[in-house]
Amino acid sequence: MNDPTTGDPQVHLTEIDVDLDIQEILLAASQHDIPKLRRLCRTQSSLPDAANVKDPETGYSPLHAAIAACEPDEDEQANGTNSSSAPGENEQLNSGVETVRFLLQEGAIWNDLDNNNETPGCLARRIGAPELYELIVDAGVRAEMLLNRLDEYQALSEDEDEDEDEEEGGAGEQPDDATAPELVQASTEQPAESESTGPTNPEVSNQTYLSSTLSINNNRILDSDQNGVMMRWESDIMLKSAKALLPRPGLKVLNIGHGMGIVDSFFQDQSPAEHHIIEAHPSVLADMKSKGWDSKSGVTIHEGRWQDILPALVGEGVTFDAIYYDTFAESYADFRDFFSEQVIGLLEQDGKWGFFNGMGADRQISYDVYQKVAEMDLFEAGFDVEWEEIPVPKLEGEWEGVRRAYWVVENYRLPLCRFMD
Ligand SMILES: C[S@@+](CC[C@H](N)C(=O)[O-])C[C@H]1O[C@@H](n2cnc3c(N)ncnc32)[C@H](O)[C@@H]1O
Repeated sequence: MNDPTTGDPQVHLTEIDVDLDIQEILLAASQHDIPKLRRLCRTQSSLPDAANVKDPETGYSPLHAAIAACEPDEDEQANGTNSSSAPGENEQLNSGVETVRFLLQEGAIWNDLDNNNETPGCLARRIGAPELYELIVDAGVRAEMLLNRLDEYQALSEDEDEDEDEEEGGAGEQPDDATAPELVQASTEQPAESESTGPTNPEVSNQTYLSSTLSINNNRILDSDQNGVMMRWESDIMLKSAKALLPRPGLKVLNIGHGMGIVDSFFQDQSPAEHHIIEAHPSVLADMKSKGWDSKSGVTIHEGRWQDILPALVGEGVTFDAIYYDTFAESYADFRDFFSEQVIGLLEQDGKWGFFNGMGADRQISYDVYQKVAEMDLFEAGFDVEWEEIPVPKLEGEWEGVRRAYWVVENYRLPLCRFMD
């Protein structure tokens, strides 16, 4: 549309103004010019969310720009001098830290992706700036904790609404996953990080998964959308988890999620006195029976979802020396319910429990954020957790025919949880 008085293309002029504003903000961020950023963030009328503008070519946000400016010179990298040994680089890093702090206070999104599929934290890690990386991780933890709390309140108010509906005789059916937050996914104001995932697989709801057709072989279990439910490469993790949880014969163990039976076989090798297994998928149940699990001595199979089975076990006063949790298509909220509501009634006072720690494992920063989130929630629920790092072998060939590589990070962090003293 043209300006009626001058005949100029009005819309284009506005677009150019916005473009210039974006470039000005990104430039100020890359120059670590906080006074200018403050002015642009707080007074810029054409850009209401100045801390989250994006460069159309690179996809950089102001956080990306501020961090990228801290990348050491190529010459210095080639000479082997790093940022902490060069005074100019140190200054640059310090002003970068201040700028990143300022942008986060202004509401900058911690996990926005650039066109290189990197979050600001990924960029900080790649250029070797741990100070900046930690700032972003902490921002991620704060955001995720807040989102999880908001989801709790939303779930609570939905429950109240449902109760009211029921009282009025018109119960509204909620889809199974209505209250499930997606893990390491940003808030409604924040664009979600592309592929980050829940503890197991957030793209499928538990209900959908449990009624889907599985393909089960000796190497993997896939659901009907080719999502990897369980894969043989996880065997070493299962072995180390089983040994850490069940160090000697004669103990009582509960495993939730049988899958390929890998961890259950390692539990059997430890000759437990009692071995309870909860499994909800009919095909997995059929497969485990065909392999004779229902006639192994000391083994009790509970058919159904842990959500339905555990309250009855707690009611009967059954307790275990060790508990392991590895399900599929459940949200972080499910997992938190599990340890804060159920483990407390099922674990012996000196018992140990663990879980498959795959939260956010498709991106290092998500993995680091969710380790801290889980640690804080575990602490709140009364558990101490120790982490053991286990290197994961290269998995390049593993993902053929699998919808999504759900494991990318180099080291698995094996959790071992106990009641706090
Ligand atoms: C990742 S596999 C477990 C792999 C197992 N740790 C192993 O070593 O082979 C997850 C299992 O949890 C089961 N599952 C998913 N949701 C469940 C629920 N709510 N209750 C019980 N089992 C569930 C799935 O059917 C699947 O067999």
